[in-house]
Amino acid sequence: SNQITDELLSLTPTPKELNDAARFDCNENKSTVSITVVGASGDLAKKKIFPALFALYYEDCLPEHFTVYGYARSKMTDAELRNMVSKTLTCRIDKRENCSEKMDQFLKRCFYHSGQYDSEENFAELDKKLKEHEGGRTANRLFYLSVPPNIFISAVRCASSSASSAIGWTRVIVEKPFGRDSETSAALTKGLKQYLEEDQIFRIDHYLGKELVENLSVLRFSNLIFEPLWSRQYIRNVQFLFSEDFGTEGRGGYFDNYGIIRDIMQNHLLQILALFAMETPVSLDAEDIRNEKVKVLRSMKPIELKDVVIGQYKSHTKGGVTYPGYTDDKTVPKDSLTPTFAAAALFINNARWDGVPFLMKAGKALHNKGAEIRVQFRHVPGNLYNRSNGPDLDRDTNELVIRVQPDEAIYLKINNKVPGLGMRLDRSHLNLHYAARYAKEIPDAYERLLLDAIEGERRLFIRSDELDAAWSLFTPVLKELEDKKIVPEYYPYGSRGPVGAHRLAYRYNVEWG
Ligand code: NDP
Ligand code: BG6
Repeated sequence: SNQITDELLSLTPTPKELNDAARFDCNENKSTVSITVVGASGDLAKKKIFPALFALYYEDCLPEHFTVYGYARSKMTDAELRNMVSKTLTCRIDKRENCSEKMDQFLKRCFYHSGQYDSEENFAELDKKLKEHEGGRTANRLFYLSVPPNIFISAVRCASSSASSAIGWTRVIVEKPFGRDSETSAALTKGLKQYLEEDQIFRIDHYLGKELVENLSVLRFSNLIFEPLWSRQYIRNVQFLFSEDFGTEGRGGYFDNYGIIRDIMQNHLLQILALFAMETPVSLDAEDIRNEKVKVLRSMKPIELKDVVIGQYKSHTKGGVTYPGYTDDKTVPKDSLTPTFAAAALFINNARWDGVPFLMKAGKALHNKGAEIRVQFRHVPGNLYNRSNGPDLDRDTNELVIRVQPDEAIYLKINNKVPGLGMRLDRSHLNLHYAARYAKEIPDAYERLLLDAIEGERRLFIRSDELDAAWSLFTPVLKELEDKKIVPEYYPYGSRGPVGAHRLAYRYNVEWG
């Protein structure tokens, strides 16, 4: 039997072989691309966009000829931009590695142009500079709109009116929020479409670029054992959970106009739900996948106010430290009713999911940070085992957990016999723990999405009809919450959130994972 084990082990790929298999051949793209980060002086550009571009450069994923331009109103020289950007760059594979040479090479490709967002003249100056770098090659242009949404349309208007002729493709990545309800979202889409075709607009939802979210379809559609169970017949409920252990610090001004339902549920959690619940797409083509997502979104039952619980964190002192409440932020009105926490029960009116509660829970300033999908299966009918054997098999059913972050993992809770002469059962995990299985660091979501935008891959971006469907689902209940001035349930900073969330789950016979 040792020989068999050795033979089996020799078939199992080593971590090195797995890493080699994961290597992505990025060198196929030989075109020229000019990437303009509009709003380059901002938080997102510093924290995410420039580091992701560097990571792609580090991995040889950017075309041989590329230039990155920062654009914003702040006055900055190229050297000052490079200095600002250099502070947030880290080595892609191993943060202890010294990749200063690569960083210098990357920074030499980064430039800055200061201008107004509504000035055709300033964008024309940028266009001239881009052209010089493009050196007469067929030039493809990617604009990343990393600015507040009220600036999107003027920036697109100016960028498109000043764009030189005879270039390759032009694509625009648009950051959320895409409006704050159906009406404002439709107006934004209409405004953008005055200057762009739908296939030029890349609406980003960075959760779609997260490794475990991308893996959802692989898990479902490449393993025989999951898909047959993926329905009301075997699944009791599904939970989509998001929590942060910090408040809205520094972003209170933005947040107060949106709240947690618009900030997290209507986009990140709903997108995951759509991928989770959609039917098998005809192919992996972007349009086929997005068609299925739209179908499932349009099959959802309107959300009822009774199925929504909202909360807001209040100040809390722990261990001598006082954590501020949401309204202690100077940019937030003292009487704000904006939810920083929400839980909701959603339902899909189709043959596969009829009656299955899809529960969402999202909150800021909670006791931990993480994002998970939890799938609770039905109990085993006619169970042979009872409580004297250990777990309560009516409650302790199989549960599949997809831990999106941190410490990515997929594990299945099963009941197992405790080894020994007795017959006791035990809750155990079949565990795929990414850090143990894959030595390679997981790319940041923005890396995947930027690369896809450069390559024209639209699978992980939101199409306008998907966006409409997502807003149609949430707009009525948001309006009701706001019109009725529903007061959120207050919860202490660092706690598990309002008890109302437990009442909601209890109503559907669910326990939060
Ligand atoms: P910032 O508020 O930092 O804005 C980015 C830049 O836009 C600023 O540096 C500023 O540049 C310019 N700007 C800001 N406010 C105004 C204004 N009122 N009028 C004109 N210009 C303004 O935003 P972030 O970098 O945090 O985010 C960018 C976009 O990404 C936003 O749409 C945001 O909602 C979204 N987003 C951000 C996330 C984050 O973690 N930060 C996460 C997900 C989405 P200058 O003054 O130099 O012109
Ligand atoms: C953004 C929200 O879209 O996602 C933020 O606007 C939130 O409020 C962030 O903090 C969370 O992203 P991540 O990748 O850190 O989980």
